[in-house]
Amino acid sequence: MRICVCPGSFDPITNGHLDIIRRAASLFDKVIVAVLRNSAKSPSFTEAQRVDMILTACAEAGLTVEVDVFEGLLVEYARKVGACAIVRGLRAVSDFEYEMQMASLNNLLCSDVQTVFFMTSAQYAYISSSMVREIGRLGGDISALVPPSIQEQVLCTLTSKP
Ligand code: PNS
Repeated sequence: MRICVCPGSFDPITNGHLDIIRRAASLFDKVIVAVLRNSAKSPSFTEAQRVDMILTACAEAGLTVEVDVFEGLLVEYARKVGACAIVRGLRAVSDFEYEMQMASLNNLLCSDVQTVFFMTSAQYAYISSSMVREIGRLGGDISALVPPSIQEQVLCTLTSKP
């Protein structure tokens, strides 16, 4: 059984994330989407909302995945759940340095969990959670950026905040 972890903040999940999860599901027997619990960051969406939106978006896309929350080191979490790989998406060159650093350090910490990268599909290359938050907050159209089933929830939460 080949298990992978797709980790992230998912604040909120975007069409780009969903594309990576879908492609991971085509290669691995089990995909665990792991939401970072990070008290140092203050996300726009609560942990429960982020988990709920991932479950909703994956169900709508017909993807059978597990969704979990993790804290502490990602490699420790991956080891604990029996994952052989960490899956990340790579967009533009700007992602590369950060992802290279993370993959190298994770490999140093735990060499039996491999980091696997998917090059983001061209139509999602410009999407990020932070841009979704900004556009949503400013009343822009996010319909091309996030899965249809969570659009309303995303907009409601973003526009209700001061
Ligand atoms: O969606 P993000 O915010 O780019 O995801 C970043 C994430 C969650 C993958 C990264 O912050 C992470 O793995 N955090 C857990 C702490 C950890 O293991 N740090 C060492 C990485 S070298």
